[in-house]
Amino acid sequence: MKNILITGGAGFIGSHVVRLFVNKYPNYNIYNLDKLTYAGNLNNLKDLEKAPNYTFIKGDICDFEMVLQLFQKYNIDSVIHLAAESHVDRSIKDPFSFAQTNVMGTLALLQAAKHHWLTDNANTEANLFYHVSTDEVYGSLEMDGTFFTEETKYDPHSPYSASKASSDHFVRAFYDTFKLPIVISNCSNNYGSYQFPEKLIPLFINNIRHNKPLPVYGKGENVRDWLFVEDHASAIDLIFHKGKRGDTYNIGGFNEWKNIDLIKVIIKTVDKFLGREPGTSESLITYVTDRAGHDLRYAIDSSKLNKELGWEPSLQFEEGIEKTVKWYLENQDWLDNVTSGEYQKYYTEMYK
Ligand code: NAD
Ligand code: DAU
Repeated sequence: MKNILITGGAGFIGSHVVRLFVNKYPNYNIYNLDKLTYAGNLNNLKDLEKAPNYTFIKGDICDFEMVLQLFQKYNIDSVIHLAAESHVDRSIKDPFSFAQTNVMGTLALLQAAKHHWLTDNANTEANLFYHVSTDEVYGSLEMDGTFFTEETKYDPHSPYSASKASSDHFVRAFYDTFKLPIVISNCSNNYGSYQFPEKLIPLFINNIRHNKPLPVYGKGENVRDWLFVEDHASAIDLIFHKGKRGDTYNIGGFNEWKNIDLIKVIIKTVDKFLGREPGTSESLITYVTDRAGHDLRYAIDSSKLNKELGWEPSLQFEEGIEKTVKWYLENQDWLDNVTSGEYQKYYTEMYK
């Protein structure tokens, strides 16, 4: 029996992690704490609403008193922390909310865990604070075949990655200073179902469907390393159960794509499913002003996770992208609901 607090479980990756844990571990109680920002959507978890081991709690991770009460009320023994502001472009426009949620929110959770585990209820063997982070903390690579390893020095460039780097440092500081049992993973770009369509892949699938322009930043030459979201969730499951306290694990699928090449694969796949002539939608490609401070290349070396815990991704990219395109085309209602903001009105009323 475990009582696990998952934060940000109504978001993209969080919803996949919640689903995996609720279904795979019926003897674990899963408490999903989410503020339901624009990125949080309970439609992502409709299939779990009646699961006996699942509880949703609407709340802000920055609210220390409320978080501490949750630890006490549900006797929380582990945390999987995903709640965050996650979009780089938004962090350029509004860095304050990134510092607030990603740094202060993480700190509130750490303090509550420390209070409950190390003061009220000392049994650190059973406790774990799992912090889900990103490869963006390592900065940007040249086009030279090198990789981010767990030893790469932090060098964040965007307000988003600076806030995530700061939160990682706080998590390690709680391990060093208080012996709070922690583990951190840093993952590359995820793709798959339920991703908010401000991010490249769902945005472009939706735009192609509606014959809208595809805004390619700069020359489209930046490189990202893509991982299917369910493979990220399976890595989190493994690290949660087998990861070494105090350690960091990189997660990625050795799957680098130049943006423009990836965009052409998306176009080809969407055109095929919509019965359009191959390449029809390439005319939608529109080169626009580059993102400020745009990191050139990310590439994750996840060999530690493979060697020490035996993790490897389950899907080839071609299969993953077909599955993903098919999901968005078959779930146009989900996309319409999200792009119109309807879901927020509904759940704001419900949890007022
Ligand atoms: P997302 O934006 O889709 O979801 C974030 C969730 O957090 C939403 O449900 C939102 O409502 C919730 N949230 C935001 N602020 C909150 C607050 N103050 N209190 C409680 N809940 C709050 O994000 P995502 O893409 O699923 O990313 C999840 C985590 O994984 C983040 O920590 C992110 O940094 C990390 N990550 C993401 C990627 C990726 O490719 N998307 C890759 C590596 C790591
Ligand atoms: O690497 C992990 C990170 O991946 C996560 O930590 C972030 O939360 C997640 O948002 C993602 O960050 P990116 O900035 O890499 O993802 P995004 O989908 O915003 O952009 C992917 C690439 O595509 C990037 O080089 C910018 C480019 N892009 C993006 C959008 C939205 C465009 O060219 N046009 C666009 O409209």
